Amino acid sequence: MRRIAHATVKKLFALLLAAGLLAGIAAGDAAAAHGDAKPEKRGILLVAFGTSVEGAGAAYTNIEKLVKEAFPGVELRWAYSSMIIRRKLAAEKNAVERDSPALALAKMMDEGFTEVVVQPLQTIPGQEFNATAETARAFSGMPKGVRRVVVGMPLLSSTQDLERAAGVLASIVPKERAPGEAVVYVGHGTHHPANVYYPGLQYYLQKKDKLAFVGTVEGSPTLADVQAELTRLKVKKAYLLPFLAVAGDHVHNDIAGDGPDSWKSTLTRAGIACAAVLKGTGESDPVAAIWVDHIKAAMEQLTTPQ
Ligand code: CO
Repeated sequence: MRRIAHATVKKLFALLLAAGLLAGIAAGDAAAAHGDAKPEKRGILLVAFGTSVEGAGAAYTNIEKLVKEAFPGVELRWAYSSMIIRRKLAAEKNAVERDSPALALAKMMDEGFTEVVVQPLQTIPGQEFNATAETARAFSGMPKGVRRVVVGMPLLSSTQDLERAAGVLASIVPKERAPGEAVVYVGHGTHHPANVYYPGLQYYLQKKDKLAFVGTVEGSPTLADVQAELTRLKVKKAYLLPFLAVAGDHVHNDIAGDGPDSWKSTLTRAGIACAAVLKGTGESDPVAAIWVDHIKAAMEQLTTPQ
């Protein structure tokens, strides 16, 4: 009996030892023995489509400033998702070169980042946003890489975002706007189902301002839709405001350009005088604050169990 008890105790001891070792491995002790244990290092990767238009980068600079203020001590990186823009910048003298989202994440992996928030600077969750989100997720939990990557939402991604955007967009309207004059926020637009955010925003804008309209360059509402409304309401003057993060090519050509097909030229021909603002929404603090809050939400996700 005593012999058996002794053997049992020995077995138990061996079991406990094995369990202890296993627990140690699970806690990363074994990895530490190989010098692989990484101290926590958080980063933010801002991903924009990119622009090569001079001066348009002011929007990105402003967003960067706000993000740094909101997350002191968290390292910030940039990536441009447009290959055409990246190549253009690489070929230019004195231009700031940008990595692709995948290259930026690979570099962050090598630099020992353990947690990364990827924040796309898109307006809606369309094609560009989803492509970046997919790339980002592929880097989450990669062996010896970033433990967790969380993607922040674009400017408009919920009903609350629409209500909030409708509220703050009034702040980018020039002060000289007189009663009876309209404002038209012109966004990119897409064939992607996420285009619904534009008519969605129109609904909340109309609750606050009967002469505030949303239009898009490549989706719906179209220029013809907006023109019909302005004509119906006998509007004589409209302010054209970009509803894009940066005032790049679409703003300078499609919206405010002097070409016959631009929004400005088309509406002017229809008897509606146009005043175009050449600033992206990223240059407005209250609008950019929506992206910053989406980074905050993503940061909170980093600390919740998967
Ligand atoms: Co475009």
